[in-house]
Amino acid sequence: MSLPAIASLLKQHMGLHSSTVGSGTISQAVERRMRDCGINDIGDYHNIISQSETELNELIDTVVIPETWFYRDRNPFSAFSDWVRHNWLAGSAHTPLRILSVPCSTGEEPYTLAMCLADCGMAAADTHIDAIDISSTNIERARQARYGNNSFRGGDLRFRDRYFESVGTRFQLTDAIRQRVHFEQANLLEQDFSTGRAPYHVIFCRNLLIYFDRPTQHQAIDRLEQLLTSDGILFLGHSETSLLLERPFSALEFPRCFGFRRAEKESRTDHAPASRNKPKAPRKRDRLPVTAPLPFAEVEAGKELHTVETGDNDVLLQKAFRLADQGHLDEAARHCETLLQQHALQADAHYLLGLIREAAGNSAEAERMFRRTVYLDPTHYEALAHLSVICRRQGDSGEARRFHERAARVQRHNRGTG
Ligand SMILES: C[S@@+](CC[C@H](N)C(=O)[O-])C[C@H]1O[C@@H](n2cnc3c(N)ncnc32)[C@H](O)[C@@H]1O
Repeated sequence: MSLPAIASLLKQHMGLHSSTVGSGTISQAVERRMRDCGINDIGDYHNIISQSETELNELIDTVVIPETWFYRDRNPFSAFSDWVRHNWLAGSAHTPLRILSVPCSTGEEPYTLAMCLADCGMAAADTHIDAIDISSTNIERARQARYGNNSFRGGDLRFRDRYFESVGTRFQLTDAIRQRVHFEQANLLEQDFSTGRAPYHVIFCRNLLIYFDRPTQHQAIDRLEQLLTSDGILFLGHSETSLLLERPFSALEFPRCFGFRRAEKESRTDHAPASRNKPKAPRKRDRLPVTAPLPFAEVEAGKELHTVETGDNDVLLQKAFRLADQGHLDEAARHCETLLQQHALQADAHYLLGLIREAAGNSAEAERMFRRTVYLDPTHYEALAHLSVICRRQGDSGEARRFHERAARVQRHNRGTG
């Protein structure tokens, strides 16, 4: 009886959902803490953690999964550096670039961000990195900044030569990087977590939401949204990105980086200098009636509303739309596929492929493409409208209504009436 009660307390306090880590993890942590405290009865232990925040924190320290390493997944950090160079530094920043890493575990993630910023030539005074984790043990280790081999994975470890000194079998991070990161022990789900914090331009929140149930995940995303500037960037873990599906975020044009820009309904380019914190002009996406998908010619007429990327991709996409408009559907599809091989996150290429598949009578594939489009760009009015029609055709009126409502919301927003 007491183990479920303890699991429930952990869930309530830190969001940990027992099914995500397995009940074995929780029971082992409880057994360990009971042993360390010299307690034999689990009911007694439950009473103690219900009353003592210190012991509850000890249990949390024992149960958390601190797994992390420098440059974990690589691409998010490449995308971050790319954004810093092409957006932040290319703009006219007067404020320090504010970054939050939560959860930061033992510090590898925020220190990686600090190394990226140093590599981008940014002075410490022009950046501010807050790094937060619920575990005080992790925060203490992070502050020490001394790491073993497990924190260095993957082939390219040149950063270690630049920023670490070897101390026996371990590696000590240089003070110049250490001093760029401000560590703090805090619980993201705590009511007052956001109090007194200025908004962040970039938030890394990776590999935490996977341990939460759905409502808690959304509670956490609400909090992150609160903390993000109006056009800030949010990086999630690779299996956490679907949480942004219904929210005004658009994927960064960088392969497998799992980074999303908060979209104030303007362009989706992330290679043009950003006008930070300025309200964005609404993106007009109201050409489609929700009930009737457009022929290609009308899509082409509204083309400049969809494609904002510059360079070869833009040319390729425009050509694909033109070919489709001229009836060369196979060739248009080939252009889209080529584009998607290079830029898998190009929502409009998926959308056009959806139109082409639909024209060919391949409704299942069209639906897949439109779903992919709205996954990448949840405010893609046309794709939402097509999905609404497809679902209605399939007799799924509930799903059709939901897509219709989402499309209508986007339309109202774009017209400035929502
Ligand atoms: C797997 S690590 C992720 C570290 C890093 N973001 C990464 O992806 O490499 C998960 C961390 O989440 C922390 N954590 C768990 N619940 C938390 C909460 N409610 N608030 C803040 N941190 C939490 C744990 O202490 C642990 O260090």
